[in-house]
Amino acid sequence: MNAVLSPSVGPTAPSWVEDIARLAQPDRVVWSDGSDEEYDRLCDLMVDGGTMRRLDPAKRPNSFLALSDPTDVARVEDRTFICSEREEDAGPTNHWIAPAEMRAKIDELFTGSMRGRTMYVVAFSMGPLGSPIAHVGVELSDSPYVAVNMKLMTRMGRAVYDVLGTDGHFVPCVHTVGKPLERGEKDVPWPCNDTKYIVHFPETREIWSFGSGYGGNALLGKKCFALRIASTMGRDEGWLAEHMLLLGVENPRGDKHYVAAAFPSACGKTNFAMLIPPKGFEGWKVTTIGDDIAWIKPGADGRLYAINPEAGYFGVAPGTNEKTNFNCMESMRSNTIFTNVALTDDGDVWWEGLTKEAPAHLIDWQGRDWTPESAKVSGRKAAHPNARFTVAATQNPVLDADWDDPAGVPISAFIFGGRRSTTVPLVTEARDWVDGVYMAATMGSETTAAAGGKQGVVRRDPFAMLPFCGYNMADYFGHWLALGEKLEQSGARLPAIFTVNWFRTDADGKFVWPGFGENMRVLKWMLDRIEGRAGGVEHVFGTTPRYEDLSWDGADFTREDFETITSIDHAAWKKEVELHTELFMRLEHHLPEALSKVKDRLERRLAA
Ligand code: OXD
Ligand code: MN
Repeated sequence: MNAVLSPSVGPTAPSWVEDIARLAQPDRVVWSDGSDEEYDRLCDLMVDGGTMRRLDPAKRPNSFLALSDPTDVARVEDRTFICSEREEDAGPTNHWIAPAEMRAKIDELFTGSMRGRTMYVVAFSMGPLGSPIAHVGVELSDSPYVAVNMKLMTRMGRAVYDVLGTDGHFVPCVHTVGKPLERGEKDVPWPCNDTKYIVHFPETREIWSFGSGYGGNALLGKKCFALRIASTMGRDEGWLAEHMLLLGVENPRGDKHYVAAAFPSACGKTNFAMLIPPKGFEGWKVTTIGDDIAWIKPGADGRLYAINPEAGYFGVAPGTNEKTNFNCMESMRSNTIFTNVALTDDGDVWWEGLTKEAPAHLIDWQGRDWTPESAKVSGRKAAHPNARFTVAATQNPVLDADWDDPAGVPISAFIFGGRRSTTVPLVTEARDWVDGVYMAATMGSETTAAAGGKQGVVRRDPFAMLPFCGYNMADYFGHWLALGEKLEQSGARLPAIFTVNWFRTDADGKFVWPGFGENMRVLKWMLDRIEGRAGGVEHVFGTTPRYEDLSWDGADFTREDFETITSIDHAAWKKEVELHTELFMRLEHHLPEALSKVKDRLERRLAA
């Protein structure tokens, strides 16, 4: 163990590290210091071992491509467990196994699981170092790919030990790819195991992950800590851990608001967080605080303050290009790790949607030759649909000046959005907090490649938190309601709540709304509503703008198209509410009565 670092971690950490090392039996333990030298050394190591390849430095300086095992490409929701003491605390939307049973399984799985490998001790802060909203974690992992990704995704290394001091609290996270090496056995480029367990113990705030090296399964600060464990901490301590981007929006007069927006995985959060205002919005600025997760706490003034617990982006590459997300493309010009995209003949990267025409030849995400002609026959994509880039937030040209402020930023509005080709209008403002919680709770979305399983099926995804809520989803609704009530009682003005749907299609299945920068028009309407300046029509479940309520300067979007994406079809909504009923029946044991009452009112309005 590195003598410089370990003594300052405090009495608990070294013995815990030693315990895990005794269990998993790595050949070596390395205490990561988070330095650039260490990052370079680990990247070189992985290049030598075939896990990553260095991209042409003239094209993409200090950047790498990793190709995963084809069986390890996404989060594995059906292998994700919440092991609370009581099954009902995990609730019906989570997979539950009794803690004692799971601990026995973990002992079996982790015994010797790191043999032949190095175990990295990665101390990280979720949130600005020392922020009252931030928390520290320590991940023990036998994957150097995890160690380098954690350096980009979190505040990681030496400075975190100083925050921890000798008795600081941290969330212990243990990760193994689950592929021990026997003496003399040659490693594979992407070790993993067909058996996978992503395990959370909410009461003891522990995470154990076995068998996958990919994304949220392995970078344990992200979904496992910052959402599943943190949502439980938030329930117990009166704050929120949400699957939300955070952005700042400033008008030409210099008035600034911060909004938090929840969308399911791969529905454009990164694009929205880095939006460039369109023609007609000269002088407006949108800046990024975060693109995936927000931790939100009530401040002394009764307002809600948010930080981005992460320090980097692990975004979906396919579909990203200069038009859809210019700032993102700028962010990944250098110092980026790409995973499961395709390699060009000149040592750069490519993915579907990057350019209109694909290069004449590529090496695809599985390391095979790929040409546009062969793809026509085989249907094979060059990049995996869930291919990712990992990049530090500081590479983002529109990073908000306050992104690292330990105090966080005050939230003016919450936005909830799903991917729905029908039924849900472009934008709706909820009548009040309770109606807003109902709308977020009953949100549906078509599934994407971010998780294993079938794509394009509508599933209820309350608050975009279905795979990420670490406790009973109905209690989570109750927590939101209680927080709203508490803030209201303090006399503070609550953030407004909106739902959006950028994804409605026409009769030919084409998206009607242009999205991306054009979403600024919707964002402006929201801010105008907050400031009492914009109109709209009230309908069965809230207020939606009329065509004339949005600013159309510089746009050629027609009134007819606007009608197509804002119309409310009562028959479709009656069916939609039947699906709300189904969800509520699933959650009935803990469901707050206030939400059933909203549904009753909605049903009455639809029947009228
Ligand atoms: C993500 C996800 O990686 O939501 O952010 O899947
Ligand atoms: Mn996400």
